[in-house]
Amino acid sequence: MRGQRVLLLVGFLLPGLLLSETAKILTLSLMGGSHFLLMDRISQILQDHGHNVTMFLQRGNLLLSGFKEGEKSYNVINWLLPEDFNKEFKKSFDFFMEETLGGRSTFEHYFNILEQLGLQCSHLLRRHDIMNSLKNENFDLVVVETFDYCPFLVAEKLGRPFVSFLPTSFGTVDFGPPSPLSYVPVFHSLLTDRMDFWGRVKNFLMFFNFCMRQRRIHSAFDKTIKEHFPEGSRPVLSHLLKKAELWFVNSDFAFEFARPLLPNTVYVGGLLAKPIKPVPQEFENFIAKFGDSGFVLVTLGSMVSVIQSQEVPKEMNAAFASLPQGVIWKYKASHWPKDIKLAANVKLVDWLPQNDLLGHPHIRLFVTHGGMNSVMEAIQHGVPMVGIPILGDQYENMLRVEARNFGVSIRLKQLKAETLALKMKQVMEDKRYKSAVVAASIIRRSHPLTPAQRLVGWIDHILQTGGAAHLKPHALQQPWYEQYLLDVLLFLLVATLGTAWLCGKLLGLVARWLCGSRKLKKA
Ligand SMILES: *[C@@H]1O[C@H](CO)[C@@H](O)[C@H](O)[C@H]1NC(C)=O
Repeated sequence: MRGQRVLLLVGFLLPGLLLSETAKILTLSLMGGSHFLLMDRISQILQDHGHNVTMFLQRGNLLLSGFKEGEKSYNVINWLLPEDFNKEFKKSFDFFMEETLGGRSTFEHYFNILEQLGLQCSHLLRRHDIMNSLKNENFDLVVVETFDYCPFLVAEKLGRPFVSFLPTSFGTVDFGPPSPLSYVPVFHSLLTDRMDFWGRVKNFLMFFNFCMRQRRIHSAFDKTIKEHFPEGSRPVLSHLLKKAELWFVNSDFAFEFARPLLPNTVYVGGLLAKPIKPVPQEFENFIAKFGDSGFVLVTLGSMVSVIQSQEVPKEMNAAFASLPQGVIWKYKASHWPKDIKLAANVKLVDWLPQNDLLGHPHIRLFVTHGGMNSVMEAIQHGVPMVGIPILGDQYENMLRVEARNFGVSIRLKQLKAETLALKMKQVMEDKRYKSAVVAASIIRRSHPLTPAQRLVGWIDHILQTGGAAHLKPHALQQPWYEQYLLDVLLFLLVATLGTAWLCGKLLGLVARWLCGSRKLKKA
């Protein structure tokens, strides 16, 4: 049975492997952090599959602290932003994080970051030497990533076909898929797919808010577009998004509420989940100390380690102290507040093999900020979660985790030692959480193709067919009023009302005429 399945799989993949010729692919990684990790993985996968991959890597933005960069099998073009750009960016970012952690963040703080990205983009596009040498390479395909919109502008400048990667779940960016508001919650609405009447009212109204935000976000790049594209051929970002041949989404229906997709949308959530390796001895020794009680893994993402807040680590430390489990916590030891005594069962580390630890047989719980990569890895290994979402899509991710019973989440503002301890114990003791996430893990693993196979399979497909025109519905070119048939509805409404009015008028005329003739007869 197993052998048969493998044969089937090989039969399915082999024609692709044989047909595909080496393509020259450019991947653009302008953001650091987890965004870089994903682009690194994509580049690796495409290179290992036989393509010739070059990554254009912008350094200086938030690269991961303590991350050991391995040997790369693909080519890298390193590009260092001038120091003052980095400083400005870091300033906006730190301010944004401070406001966020203090619960005071507004859209404007986020918009400031985007404006910085716009400035960085202008600077890059001004470097004609770099842009020309990239252009001369004549890449067959460009892989871009959404958050920063600069990669789209670079791809447009190079005039090459591109595929886009959405590092978050569906719905954070509108790239064209139909999203019926009756059961597809709008991003930021904090609704699930089961909406009651008022939920649907809220979702409907939030939709307009979402559209306005998208427009505003795109406007951060207006200056850049004006400066670098001549009038008449200036791209509109919302159209540029729809120009992507394929959209890869870093999500999966083991996690996301089922929703309609376009034929050129491929979900590849879990790309970072690699086969597990034994964890280093220092971790193994620590885990062994707690025997059958097991251990809890704590990481709050690549962003939070930047911030020095006293309250949060203090409360978390106190909560961990009350657990019989060991706690492995990704936290810079050098940043640890001096006047707080670290609990005896806690081990702080700068960097940890997250995937391998999540796959460790003794893991009991994952305390996470709810970033997409972390959630997908936890699902892959069937580990229940306690989430402390901090920004961006993390709230919506944790909402899905809660709706599906993979765990619970706590607001940062309500993070007190007792609450956290209570929630952690609840998720570890109530077996329903574990069994729900194990069930999701089976859904993830039983997909006929792995995320990496889907990635290379679809890229090969469009390389062989010369693009994805056959996968893009005409809707992508239709104006919204045509798509929603508003013009037709308006026409029918006018026609119906007009006819009714005419009929009424005619009846009135006839009635008056009849009355008139009767009166005449009487007279
Ligand atoms: C891959 O692409 C790079 C950059 O264009 C080029 O220098 C290199 O020769 C290519 N390698 C192969 C094996 O084609």
